[in-house]
Amino acid sequence: MPDKASARVARPWLIPLCVGGALLAGFGAAALGLYGGLYNVAADEPHSQSVYRLLETVRDRSIAVRAADIDVPPDLSEPGRIASGAGQYVDMCSSCHLAPGMKRTEISRGLYPRAPELRRGSRATPAEDFWVVKHGIKATGMPAWGVTHSDKLLWDLVAFVRKLPELSADEYQAIVRSAPKSHDEIMEGMEMEGSHGDH
Ligand code: HEC
Repeated sequence: MPDKASARVARPWLIPLCVGGALLAGFGAAALGLYGGLYNVAADEPHSQSVYRLLETVRDRSIAVRAADIDVPPDLSEPGRIASGAGQYVDMCSSCHLAPGMKRTEISRGLYPRAPELRRGSRATPAEDFWVVKHGIKATGMPAWGVTHSDKLLWDLVAFVRKLPELSADEYQAIVRSAPKSHDEIMEGMEMEGSHGDH
C-alpha cells in the first residue's frame, strides 16, 4: 500500500489538470453566456449595480488620464466665449442635456446611461469636459463633436457649460439671444468632411 506522500508524488498532473479544467469551464460558461445572448443590452433595462460601477470606473479613469495634459485656455470666463458657446449649446446639446426652464425631452427620457443635466453642474474639471465634448463617450449617445468642430468652438462650449449652473431660465434665453452666430451660421463656414473611421 503506498502512503499519502508517495500518492501525491505519483500524480504530478493532478493540480495542472484541475486548474486547466476550471479555466476551461470558466471560458465555456463565459462563451455560452456571450453567444447565448444572456446579457441584455436594452437601454430600458438598467445595468446591475456592479456592472454600472465597473463601467463608471472605466469611463472616469479613461477620461482623467487622457485629460491630464490638456492646457485650459485662461479666458473661459470671457462673456464673448460664453455667448458663442450658448449659441451652439441650444442646438447641439440641450435636446439631451436640457437647460434652465426646459422640460425633459423624449431623447433625454430614453437615453441610457442618462445624459446628466448640465445646469446642475459638472463633476469634472474643464479639461475633462473638453475631452468628453471633443471625443465623445462610446456606447452612451454622447457624440464626438471634435469630428466636426474646431477646438476653439469646443472651448466656447466648455466656457458656457461651466457658466450654465448660475443661469435662470430668463438669463439662459438672453445669453442664447446674445450669441454672435447661430449654430447653422457657424457650420456654414466649416468643412464637414471629417467623420469617424469605419471601425
Ligand atoms: C444624443 C444625446 C447627447 C447629445 C446631443 C450631447 N450629449 Fe453630452 N452626454 C450624453 C450622455 C448620454 C452622457 C453621459 C455618458 C455617461 O454617463 O458615460 C453625456 C456626457 C456629457 C458630459 C460629461 C458630464 C459628466 O459630468 O460626466 C459632458 C461635459 C457633455 N456630455 C457635454 C455635452 C455638450 C457640450 C454637448 C453639445 C455640444 C453634448 N454633450 C451633446 C448625451 C448627449
